[in-house]
Amino acid sequence: MSDRETWTSRVGFILAAVGSAVGLGNIWSFPFQTASNGGAAFLVVYLLAVTLIGFPVMLGEFVIGRRSERNAVEAFRSLGFGEWSIVGGLGVLASFVTLAFYSVVGGWVLSYIVGSVTGGYLGDAGAYFAAVSAGPITVAAHAVFMGLTIAIVALGVTDGIERATKLMVPAIFVLMGGLALWVSTLDGAAEGYAYYLSPDVGVIAGNLAGIVPPAVGQAFFTLSLGFGVMIAYSSYLGRDDSLPADGSAIVVVNTLVALLAGFVVFPVLFAIEGSIPSSGGAGTAFTALAGAFSQIPGGRVIGLGFFVVLLLAALSSSISLLEVPTSFVADRTGYDRTPTALGLGALVALVGVPTALDTGVLGWYNDVVFNLLLPLAVLFISLFVGWVADDQLAAELNLGSSFGSGFSSVWLWWVRIVIPVAIGGTLLLGIQSLLVKAGVLAAPIVLG
Ligand code: PHE
Repeated sequence: MSDRETWTSRVGFILAAVGSAVGLGNIWSFPFQTASNGGAAFLVVYLLAVTLIGFPVMLGEFVIGRRSERNAVEAFRSLGFGEWSIVGGLGVLASFVTLAFYSVVGGWVLSYIVGSVTGGYLGDAGAYFAAVSAGPITVAAHAVFMGLTIAIVALGVTDGIERATKLMVPAIFVLMGGLALWVSTLDGAAEGYAYYLSPDVGVIAGNLAGIVPPAVGQAFFTLSLGFGVMIAYSSYLGRDDSLPADGSAIVVVNTLVALLAGFVVFPVLFAIEGSIPSSGGAGTAFTALAGAFSQIPGGRVIGLGFFVVLLLAALSSSISLLEVPTSFVADRTGYDRTPTALGLGALVALVGVPTALDTGVLGWYNDVVFNLLLPLAVLFISLFVGWVADDQLAAELNLGSSFGSGFSSVWLWWVRIVIPVAIGGTLLLGIQSLLVKAGVLAAPIVLG
């Protein structure tokens, strides 16, 4: 076993975990998912999903990591259940595949930073997106983004990840807050807020089947659950602080950033378009926003600020995705992290190339992760926590916790029953949606 590092402080761990959680999911997907699922109606369901489903699963990953002090795969063996290592393996696979296309979108963001400086997207936002979203430029930008990711991970847990996220997370907050204030002065901002903040209960009631699965999926993704990230990060704790307290802080901050992103995106779009385009795919966010930035006074500066925030958010997440396979290989083989991160990162970059050449392929990677790998991994993690290693993990949750042992018993029963039922349903709907997309099923059978 190689010498394992530990976070230098509690805040260091929290910021690293927040850095992982806050990402493209919060700033790029969240506002647009909200828009295409009934505005504030989606928001309500999403907040419930994050609190009632995401948070307990996050605690599950934390206790696995902190108790075992091992990477996502070997953690299961170290707790005494080697046959469950496959669940960690699923997490490593999910991280690997996700990073491959996440980094391509990270590359798009780099191109939009360049576009804000050169004015490249000012004339024709659609043409700019077409030029940077698939093709040789995209491959190059993807390679640059992966290079940045690898560099940080190779530096190590404390010198790389902890140091980087300590700078990035506060910067994301300050810049995003500044942008939200600025756009509040735009004419038309009020309509944006109104749409964003007034839940239409009718929409929720009428579309529950359509809203719940994406909201649950988004809750897992935004909290970086199911990928082994939170197992890996909490394995570097080396101390017994209150995990429920740390987890709450992470969930709250992550949610605030997503909400703040809405306070930037909605006023901008309503000020210019008078409405928000419902999601027409991966590119809508980029084309709609770039189009709006080109018409707002000072829009290029807002655009630059926005895409820089997006880059910081994407990077602080991508490093956590690379950390999962890196910690596995480094723990297991005793190899030094630097060559390990480099080799694995290069492999991920290669796997991502098809998604940099065709946005349709990117959509497929995304769908397989969202509809299959992610719910499957979370389902197994919750079964493991609730039914297999339950006693030792509940005891672990009590260590350093100020919430009392009543909290851990409620948590345990919740993870045993409610979470598997919720995720099982999500998984079924996810598989169904994959089959429909692949043309195997002509139409959804359940909740069509
Ligand atoms: N949570 C990140 C986001 O919202 C994505 C992510 C998922 C990062 C899983 C790490 C692991 O963009």
